[in-house]
Amino acid sequence: MTLEKQNLTFRQIIKKEEELYNLLLLADPSKEKIDEYLKSSLVFVVEGNNKMIGTVVLQTLEDNKFAEIKNISVLEEHQGKGLGTFLIENVLEIARQMNCETIYIGTANSSIGQLYLYQKLGFEIREIRKNFFIDNYSELIYENNIQAKHMIMLAKQL
Ligand code: ACO
Repeated sequence: MTLEKQNLTFRQIIKKEEELYNLLLLADPSKEKIDEYLKSSLVFVVEGNNKMIGTVVLQTLEDNKFAEIKNISVLEEHQGKGLGTFLIENVLEIARQMNCETIYIGTANSSIGQLYLYQKLGFEIREIRKNFFIDNYSELIYENNIQAKHMIMLAKQL
């Protein structure tokens, strides 16, 4: 199914409501970690029919020279329609307008679909944070029958 972009709104939000957390927790199981990075991030949402269907969280570092997408999530029933791509393309444009030079995104070794999506959009693997998910999360995480152990950091020059 193709995405009807004209019926969607993309905007920054300031107030963090429960509807937003329902999305953020799809990408990151730790509310504690989410609350930590929200303090220093910009939050954008995509809405359709006044309902929040996706979000992307951008943290800028070192006077905006670098930025990191800390969280990107789309409601399950709306995944696979191009919204993830739409969110990333919009946030890349915002980062460019802020004169950001490099944008990072991190995902688990087990997140095969996400690794595909980010590389397709021009991100390249930059670093592997060994045992990140073992050291930082209390529960074991499995996706695609693979244990999430390492954080793969990808970067894109803007
Ligand atoms: N599994 C398999 N394929 C995937 C996945 C996945 N999890 N995610 C994206 N893709 C593929 C799609 O099949 C599509 O392929 P195509 O272009 O060849 O048809 C392509 O990537 C683009 O997909 P979109 O429709 O633009 O992406 P979508 O709207 O589904 O959003 C997202 C992607 C945000 C990862 C969504 O699947 C999601 O919310 N997943 C749960 C939360 C999550 O894992 N977030 C990322 C964690 S990492 C981080 O937050 C920094």
